[in-house]
Amino acid sequence: MAIRGLRHIRMAGTMRIRSRFARRGAAFAAAAVFAGCLCAQADEPGLPHLVRKDGRHALIVDGAPFLILGAQSNNSSAWPATLPRVWSAIERAQANTLEVPVYWEQLEPERGKFDYSVVDQLLSGAREHRVRLVLLWFGTWKNGSSHYLPMWLKRQPELCPRIIGRDGRRVDSPSPHSPALLEADTRAFSALMRHLREADPRHTVIMVQVENEPGSWNTVRDYSPAAQKLFTSPVPAELLKALGREGRAGGDWAAVFGRDADEFFQAWSVARFIGQVAAAGKAEYPLPLYVNAALRDPLTQPAASTYESGGATDNVLDIWKAAAPAVDVLAPDIYMNDSEHYLKVVDLYSRPDNALFIPETIGSAAGTRFCYAALARGAIGWSPFGIDSPNRNANAAGDALDPIAINCRVLNPMMREVAQWAFEGRLHAAVEESDGRQQTLALGRWQAAVAFGPATFGFGRSPKGNPEPVGRVLVAQLGEDEFMVTGYLCRVDFRAADPVSGAQRDFLRVEEGAYEGGVFHPARIWNGDETDWGLNFGSAPQVLRVQLGTY
Ligand code: DGJ
Repeated sequence: MAIRGLRHIRMAGTMRIRSRFARRGAAFAAAAVFAGCLCAQADEPGLPHLVRKDGRHALIVDGAPFLILGAQSNNSSAWPATLPRVWSAIERAQANTLEVPVYWEQLEPERGKFDYSVVDQLLSGAREHRVRLVLLWFGTWKNGSSHYLPMWLKRQPELCPRIIGRDGRRVDSPSPHSPALLEADTRAFSALMRHLREADPRHTVIMVQVENEPGSWNTVRDYSPAAQKLFTSPVPAELLKALGREGRAGGDWAAVFGRDADEFFQAWSVARFIGQVAAAGKAEYPLPLYVNAALRDPLTQPAASTYESGGATDNVLDIWKAAAPAVDVLAPDIYMNDSEHYLKVVDLYSRPDNALFIPETIGSAAGTRFCYAALARGAIGWSPFGIDSPNRNANAAGDALDPIAINCRVLNPMMREVAQWAFEGRLHAAVEESDGRQQTLALGRWQAAVAFGPATFGFGRSPKGNPEPVGRVLVAQLGEDEFMVTGYLCRVDFRAADPVSGAQRDFLRVEEGAYEGGVFHPARIWNGDETDWGLNFGSAPQVLRVQLGTY
C-alpha cells in the first residue's frame, strides 16, 4: 500500500507542485522576508524576484524559493508548427520550466508593429503543460551575430552596422556603438516586457534572458572609427570606481588596462548596450533578467582571440556588473564534459553578487550529474539545451527515459525543499569522476563516503565505478545527525568525522519516502540488506531521510 502511494506521489509530482505553490507560499514567505536584499524590484505581490542572504540567492516564485529544473528548446523550435514536439519533450524530461526563444524577426515583422501571437501560444501551452517559462530574447545578439534582426532592419544596414575587425574588414557581429540599433532593440524588448505584464498575471514567465551569448567571434573588439574614438577616450569613471581603480582617472583604455584593453573595452561596450535594453524592459515589467555567456577555458588564461570576446566570461564579470546593473544574473552556458572544468565554472559564477544559474548545458546521462554539483553551490536553476532534438537517447541504465528526467523525477516532487536548502547552504553533492574513484563529503561531525557504481552487497565489496561517469549523490544536512540523501548509481555510507573518538556509525533510522507540503512522508524503513553495506542507490528515484547515531 505504502509503495503504491509513493508511486502515485511521484507520478502526480509536477501537477502537485503547481497546486502547492499557494499553500507553500506562506511557509516560505518568512525566508524571503528576512532575506537581506531584494535584488530585483518586486513592486507587485507575487512577482518572481531574486533574494540574497549571507551571499546566497533564491529565485522567489509565488512567495517561495523555486528551483528551475529546466530544459531549453532548439533554436528554431518556438513556432506553432514545432511547439507540439517541444511540449512532448518537456513532458518526457519531467522538467518544470521550458526555456524558449522569442525571435525579434517574428515579434516585430514591421517596424513598430508587434505580433504577440507566438508569445501568447507559449504562455497558454506552458499553462496547459503546467510548466513555467524562461523566455530568451533573441534580439541584437545571438551567439555573437545579429541574425535574428527583423528583415526591415537587415535591409537598412546603416542602422545595424557590423563591427570592423583590426584588419578593417567587416565582421558578422553587431556593433554595440549603433544608437539606432540600441533604440530599436530597446523598443522591441520593452514591447515584449509590456506585453508580458499584461498577458501574464499568473507569472508563467519567471525570468527573461536578454540577448543570447552576446559578444564577438573573430575579433576581440570593434575597430570602427566610432569605437576607436571611445577607445582612445578616458575610461568611464564609474567603471574605474567599480574596479577600485579611481587612481587611473583620465587614462584611456590602453593606458589603464594594457593588454586586456581590447577585450575589456568590448565587454564594457556590449554590456552597456544590453544593460540599457534590460533597464528599459525592466521599467515595463521588473522580472528577473539574465544574460548567458559562451565561456572561455576557466583553468587557463587563453588569449581573448580564441573565444567569444565581450560576453560575460569569467574574467569580465565585474565589468558586466558595473555596466549592466539591470541584468540580475550573469549565467554560464556550460558545455564542458569534465568535472574539473565544469566545477571551476560553477565556482566562478556563484558569487555573493551573482546567483548561479546554468541556462544551457549538456543533457546527456553523464552531463546531467552536474546538476547536483550546481545545487550544492546554491544554484537557482539548471537547464540542458536541445530538449526537442530527435536523437535524445535513453539513459545509461537502459531506461527509456530522457536523461534529464533522472534528476527531474526525484527533484521535482521536493523542488521547493531543495530550493530552500540551496538557499540555506545545506546541500552537498558528489558527482562521479571519469575514473570512478570514491569521494568524501564533509558534513559537520560526519563524513559521507560515496562509491559509484551499481549496487553491490556483502562485506568488502564496494561499487567500482559505472561504465560511464553517471553517478551522483545529493545530501541535505537537516540537523547535526539528520540528512536527506538521494543518489543515482552509487553507494553512500557515513562515518564519524573524528576518527580518534572511536565512535562507529549507527543507522538509527533510514526512511524512504517523499516530501509533500513541506513534510516528509515515509513509505518504508530501510534495514537489513538495504543498510548493512551502506545505502545503495540504483536508477530508481529514491529519497531517504537518514538519522544517525553512534555506538
Ligand atoms: C549556445 C547557444 O546559446 C544556443 O542558442 C545554441 O546555439 C547552442 N549553443 C548550440 O549548441
